Amino acid sequence: MPDLNDVTRGRILFGGDYNPEQWPEEVWQDDVRLMKAAGVNSVTVGVFSWAKLEPRPGAREFGWLDRLLDLLHQHGIGVVLATPTASPPPWLGRLHPDTLPRDEHGQIVWWGSRQQFSHSSTVYRHYAAALTEDLAARYGEHPALTMWHINNEYCTYDWGDESARAFRAWLQRRYETLDALNEAWGTAFWSQRYDSWAEIIPPRRAQYLKNPTQVLDFKRFTSDALLECYLAERDIVTRHSPHLPVTTNFMPLWTGQDAWEWAQHEDIVSVDIYPDPKDPLAGQFNAMIGDMTRCQAHGPWMVMEQAAGPVNFRGINHPKPRGLNRLLSLQSVAHGADAICFFQWRQSRQGAEKFHSGMVSHAGEHGRTYQEVKELGADLARLGPAVTGTHTPAQVAVVHDWDSWWADQQGGRLSDQVRYEELIRAWHRALWEAGLATDFARPEGELGAYRVVVVPHLYLLTDAAVENLLAYVADGGSLVCGFHTGAADADDRVREGGMDGRLRELFGIRTVHEWWPLDPGETVGCGTFRGTLWSEELEAAEDAEVVASYEGGELDGLPAVLRRGQGWYISTLPEPDALRELLTTVAREAGVRPVLDGLPAGVEAVRRGDLLFLLNHGRLPVELAVPGTHRDLLGGGTVEGSITLGRYGVAVLAP
Ligand code: GAL
Repeated sequence: MPDLNDVTRGRILFGGDYNPEQWPEEVWQDDVRLMKAAGVNSVTVGVFSWAKLEPRPGAREFGWLDRLLDLLHQHGIGVVLATPTASPPPWLGRLHPDTLPRDEHGQIVWWGSRQQFSHSSTVYRHYAAALTEDLAARYGEHPALTMWHINNEYCTYDWGDESARAFRAWLQRRYETLDALNEAWGTAFWSQRYDSWAEIIPPRRAQYLKNPTQVLDFKRFTSDALLECYLAERDIVTRHSPHLPVTTNFMPLWTGQDAWEWAQHEDIVSVDIYPDPKDPLAGQFNAMIGDMTRCQAHGPWMVMEQAAGPVNFRGINHPKPRGLNRLLSLQSVAHGADAICFFQWRQSRQGAEKFHSGMVSHAGEHGRTYQEVKELGADLARLGPAVTGTHTPAQVAVVHDWDSWWADQQGGRLSDQVRYEELIRAWHRALWEAGLATDFARPEGELGAYRVVVVPHLYLLTDAAVENLLAYVADGGSLVCGFHTGAADADDRVREGGMDGRLRELFGIRTVHEWWPLDPGETVGCGTFRGTLWSEELEAAEDAEVVASYEGGELDGLPAVLRRGQGWYISTLPEPDALRELLTTVAREAGVRPVLDGLPAGVEAVRRGDLLFLLNHGRLPVELAVPGTHRDLLGGGTVEGSITLGRYGVAVLAP
């Protein structure tokens, strides 16, 4: 199977989405000149070109793309060619209204933006496949082509009739009989029993709370329906160019796609990362997405998109201060990226994203953004030979799962303040600030390589996942679980006793009497720290070790944190410092050390292969002790004993 190594060949890919159809062709010459000067070696073209390629049904306008690919090839710039199927032209919706998705209220999602396609529409799939076929036949052997990019950020839902039919077919495959579906969905509640498959619809707008398992299955179905679209196009391009790897770009921690599942069908795993430059923990977010994507890829991965300056989808959109783009880009390399690309090459002057930055901003060649992009290109060129293809090792893993996230997002829960993605982030932050290298893992996945496994919050756990966690501890691993973990089974049915019995046994919990969610801003004393968000009324088993107890209030004296051997349970969300301390203690006990001891706050150390990346996420210079003698790959020369990193400074040290 072709993979990222076949494309990089010792160079880090550097470039971005290139949408030259927005510009007169004279500008293309200037584009390639600036690309060459910045060291750009890879651009993604065609992502939103459907209307240009097929201006009316069945027409093909390939001339401009021929000229573009030839031009790029002539300048030695590799092309990631996208199938343009994320944004159908207006004619498709006008001639075939059934290709347009419907929202939960039954309203049509119209053209005039992008992504207005129903994943289940036969007509959409037909037109998407036909254009993909012709594109692949024409360019599959083009010498500029290095990989295929299918669609763009698959992320749409459809509650319409064609989707309803596909949903029913999906359910029939999953449950086989209506009895099994009724049982799984608990339809005895509120008179929801289905007597015929035809009665089943997507969870559309309803009077009151919806059936949670129906909603969960609809999310599972949607992820699978989108995956079918991806696979159909992937199979076409692979038929024409079996030598080229295929990817589709994920959104980071995006709820709509089970990325674990999807990644198995990609030759290259790529992701779009847009941390808020004003977020003091932007670096932690970037690290987390890197760790997650690396584990989905089982190795080097690709930043398909990031912003060289501001985005324009937040309420307030901040530019990146000088140096931050470089820092975050090199941080992604440290976390395993072998491709650093941007949305987009040249900032648009029209359209909905004209205030979203590009590698060449409205300020042009002399603007700070392009000048910094150029410097970054030079840095990446220096690192390429030493870094590409190498491994970023970790002894700690965070367990993350889409099914559990989907089940967790619903109405009718005890607290609408519990947000899965924030919990994942809080726990990853604790590990990141503790300087512990971290992987991500699936609940049913292989855990044996880790000394410590943490489960921030998996409300839903399949039986296989429970068995996997138990086996991990039985084999000597240390497991730390966060609150409300293991409460439901695969059908979102609450487990007897409020937590899986095997897990209660593991942690030393005799009974879960009640869950006690906390109000926003409310905290609860837990001995040396304060808990937030949630607390639990637990009764410990006799031989459980109570690590911390609640103080004051209704839970006074009851266990907040407890363990039995290597199985730890934290029944609240400790404040950040306390969670970091707790996880540091577990790691130390398990023999896991930070990458580098004694680093000041805001300085990160990452090992990749035999390189040591040092990253200063702060605005003040820091001096660091680095024992031994190293080659400084970015700065040149050698480093002996210590190094100073300036604001947002990065050093990459080789033995
Ligand atoms: C991504 C998308 C790009 C662009 C970018 C802006 O979601 O793939 O086309 O819209 O965001 O940040």
